[in-house]
Amino acid sequence: MAERYISLEGIGRRYPNPAGGGHTTIFEDLWLTLPKGTFTCIIGHSGCGKTTVLNILAGLDQSSEGVVVVDGTAIEGPSLDRAVIFQSHALLPWKTVIGNVAYAVRSKWPSWSRAAVLEHARRFIALVGLAGAEDKKPAHLSGGMKQRVGIARALSLQPKILLMDEPFSALDALTRGTLQDEVRKICQETGQTVLMITHDVDEAIYLADRIVLMTNGPGAVIAEVVENTLPVTRDRLDVHRHPAYYPLRNHIIDFLVTRSKAFEAERRALELAGTPWQARQPRLVRPGFSDPTLAITPATAAMSA
Ligand SMILES: Nc1ncnc2c1ncn2[C@@H]1O[C@H](COP(=O)(O)OP(=O)(O)O)[C@@H](O)[C@H]1O
Ligand SMILES: [Mg+2]
Repeated sequence: MAERYISLEGIGRRYPNPAGGGHTTIFEDLWLTLPKGTFTCIIGHSGCGKTTVLNILAGLDQSSEGVVVVDGTAIEGPSLDRAVIFQSHALLPWKTVIGNVAYAVRSKWPSWSRAAVLEHARRFIALVGLAGAEDKKPAHLSGGMKQRVGIARALSLQPKILLMDEPFSALDALTRGTLQDEVRKICQETGQTVLMITHDVDEAIYLADRIVLMTNGPGAVIAEVVENTLPVTRDRLDVHRHPAYYPLRNHIIDFLVTRSKAFEAERRALELAGTPWQARQPRLVRPGFSDPTLAITPATAAMSA
């Protein structure tokens, strides 16, 4: 087992009800560990709290309870060691492409000379395929190009931890594919620890080592963690030919279509079967190899409901 690097320890997030009186619990008692150098995706329906989890880990939001521990220390607020790629690029509109990236580089390495900052920024702009567009302002870039600048900015910080919130969701299929390849290559080369939110099952299967399945909210839980059984050397264009691909994909789709909304019943069935679901230790499943949930069909779950 790889070293535990990031751990979410019993985190919860509640919001006061707008009408007054009481709170809505988005999720509570959420436990998850991310080993160093691994790529984890979170999948779950809209509104279950994925962005909230990522923002808490980024230090941009505070949990109502529980702690996030990174490398042995509980985090307090944001850090340049944890870079975020947002769903929409969030660029400074008055700065050029290189200005946006250089701004981030300067904030991490304030003692660097102007030339060193620009050279570093230029390297990452080229890495995401934007060489030649350095002096353009965001208003003059396509959506895909703006997202690339956001990616270059986050990568230029050479963060130990890369957090991505549906980074490719607004892009056309071609751009999305290219950027998935680039990000995967960079993450493999740098050994960064990555947490990414997506609702694209194929994207998760291509990129992630582990896929965290989150149930619908309010009161969302991590139902289980799916281990990616595809070879690490996989290629985006032919992952679907691998024998492990369909068991993996079907397992995740089944979760999204039925299990994510009926997890209470499944939980009761697991309890009855003597293998209770445990918040502190989300089950690791390997679809197609060992899958304890296969014993629980929608019919048996309904019987125990
Ligand atoms: N500032 C807020 N006040 C009240 N509720 C919020 C606030 N921010 C998010 N929520 C609620 O928290 C839930 C989870 O939101 P979010 O983390 O954005 O979900 P996801 O990213 O999975 O779509 C949603 O139901 C949303 O309405
Ligand atoms: Mg979200």
